[in-house]
Amino acid sequence: MTNLMIVGSAFTDEERGRLSGAHAAGFVATPQDIATMDMTLRTEVRAVAYKGKEVFDDAAMAALPNLGLIANFGVGYDNIDVDAATARGVKVTNTPDVLNDDVADLCVGMMLGLARDMVRGHLLVASGKWGEQTLPLNRKMSGAKVGIVGLGRIGREIADRLAAFKMEVHYTSRSEKETPGWTYHSDLTEMAEAVDWLVVALKGGPETEGHVSRAVLEALGPQGILVNISRGTNVDEDAMLDMLESRKLGGAALDVFLNEPSINPRFRRLPNTHLQPHQASATVQTRTAMADLQLANVTAFLDGRDLETPVN
Ligand code: 8YV
Repeated sequence: MTNLMIVGSAFTDEERGRLSGAHAAGFVATPQDIATMDMTLRTEVRAVAYKGKEVFDDAAMAALPNLGLIANFGVGYDNIDVDAATARGVKVTNTPDVLNDDVADLCVGMMLGLARDMVRGHLLVASGKWGEQTLPLNRKMSGAKVGIVGLGRIGREIADRLAAFKMEVHYTSRSEKETPGWTYHSDLTEMAEAVDWLVVALKGGPETEGHVSRAVLEALGPQGILVNISRGTNVDEDAMLDMLESRKLGGAALDVFLNEPSINPRFRRLPNTHLQPHQASATVQTRTAMADLQLANVTAFLDGRDLETPVN
């Protein structure tokens, strides 16, 4: 019996191998391919292990008549229609917490990369032209003011790290949190006006779409730097590109974009950015922990035990 369907060309061979080593599994590249599978096989499937950027919609769920679980590889599940899943009695799980440290580490690294012009420094040394050329002085990060947009589990890890850089920490979140004296703002534009750096650590999805609007970016201003390690959808990307090009925004350090990996070509021509290919959780240790948690959810479901990390 093929109880598990592995869905997503984004799985590495090793991740796929571990899932199918634990449970009899079929494979398709995208949720939209499920309907092309043989109906007898589809009827056997009770759980899906998913990794990908395509939308997992109601039609894909309908193609699996006995589906009870979609176990997502990733903390963010904005690509899964959770309302449709709930209406069908399908549980959804994600992989929270195990990636917090790596995402926060890369966030700090990108901030330093941009502030200290580290990529250009590396390229200068590697080119053998150090001595012929010098780099312009760059920008101090320690002691500056940072606003964290969303003080959830990841936002908190980022704030803790930036506090160690003697930064003055401000934050927005649905309600004020217990912090070591950090400044709470109920209004994002007001916080953007008050800080030098704005770090977006929100979940993705319709609720947060365009949350960092043109008005917020204007408030951050020509000396301000935007950092996004969450989802491209959370920022008005056209406004951000316009303002980076016209220097109305000081800079941007980004691990996430709209339409990854085919991002807007305007990003290629911007000097005031530090860009990463959505790799904040991409260490061997963290991706292994994420795979373990996904498999633990699948196994718990198929064995009839409580799920580890349900989201609905
Ligand atoms: C995922 C991510 O690892 O966890 C998330 O929400 O954004 C990433 O770190 C990646 O999208 C693979 O699914």
